[in-house]
Amino acid sequence: MNAIARGLKVSTAILALTAGIAAAQDVEVLHWWTAGGEAAALNVLKEDLAAQGIGWEDMPVAGGGGEQAMTVLRARVTSGNSPTAVQMLGFDITDWAREGALANLNPVAEENGWEPVVPDAIKAFSKYDGEWIAAPVNVHSTNWVWANADVLEENGIEQPETWDEFVTAMETLQEAGITPLAHGGQPWQDATLFDAVVLSTGGGDFYKAALIDLDPEALNSDTMVEAFERMATLRGFVDDNFSGRDWNLASAMVINGEAGFQMMGDWAKGEFLGAGMTEGEDFLCFRFPGTQGSVTFNADQFAMFDQGGEVSPQQAAFAQAVMSPEFQVAFNVVKGSVPARTDVSDEEFGACGKKGMADLAQAAADGTLYGSMAHGYAVPASVKNAIFDVVTAHFNGEFDAQTAAEELATAVEIAQ
Ligand code: GAL
Repeated sequence: MNAIARGLKVSTAILALTAGIAAAQDVEVLHWWTAGGEAAALNVLKEDLAAQGIGWEDMPVAGGGGEQAMTVLRARVTSGNSPTAVQMLGFDITDWAREGALANLNPVAEENGWEPVVPDAIKAFSKYDGEWIAAPVNVHSTNWVWANADVLEENGIEQPETWDEFVTAMETLQEAGITPLAHGGQPWQDATLFDAVVLSTGGGDFYKAALIDLDPEALNSDTMVEAFERMATLRGFVDDNFSGRDWNLASAMVINGEAGFQMMGDWAKGEFLGAGMTEGEDFLCFRFPGTQGSVTFNADQFAMFDQGGEVSPQQAAFAQAVMSPEFQVAFNVVKGSVPARTDVSDEEFGACGKKGMADLAQAAADGTLYGSMAHGYAVPASVKNAIFDVVTAHFNGEFDAQTAAEELATAVEIAQ
């Protein structure tokens, strides 16, 4: 090797080394927060970490609900190149923990006193085998309806409290030439509607029996047939271009008055706030009619992939930052969710956020807090995807309600 070649080799080695050091101080974060409100909330986290000298390597995978992100994650882990920190939901977290892929966060949790401040329903997924394996950043709830207050007022519509009132309100909008229900035809969005409709049609015990306990009799029951009939009614209130639409574009339809309502988790609130609207004034938030008193929840959590040993200092700092009380307020005010910690004040939150926090606490106390099927907190991904297939096929007119209930019970049985 001549001197020039040797020199080149050495400087390449130095470069590689410095790149390695830089990378080691960064946290590579895989997430699906790419919509306006989501990105704004993510920035709060980025800035918090930057202030602590931790660099952020962004790995966004667009796609609401996170299905695409989970596919990318699997490919990355399989090829031995796990991201450092990953946004995850429910059963995905505990499934990865079972595979031994996640770092143990017990030292951070113990030092920062997480145990008493995280509700049991969330802890069931933040811990596995007694070890903390994820840091919950928020709690979202999915049985919400968002409405444009002016559109309702101009059409003489009061906030609907029952299914029948909701249907009447949507008929009124349809007659006025306004899209009653802004919706995006993607399986996870169809399933988000389905969660609320099942809860409303059959009540909390039925929701639990069907979508959490997977009781075949509940899945293929008259109540489930009625739930599918209601889904078909909702299908009659969406516009012709609903297919494949992203959820935030559906929110935009309500924001600009093109549509009256959207059924969506409270991440939608981030879009309304980002558009400069005031909650409780320009836009309304209310529980899907018939689900008042119950909450279907999902919570975004960050799990740290084991990089070969103990949790790294950067991962520990990331987890600690996510769980700090000040951060949980700053982040969730922007994101639309409520804090995962039970010991923070609702002072900074607007009307919908305050209601979200109160509803969550009440539902937890009353035993009416249920994991969202659509967002991975009711059943493992294999069963969830089987349910998605049936719900979407029915929504698109492939099955009538009776057949859909039968198909649901069969699909769930096969997927288990
Ligand atoms: C949910 C997630 C939320 C929200 C939504 C749409 O699954 O928990 O944080 O971003 O997807 O992307």
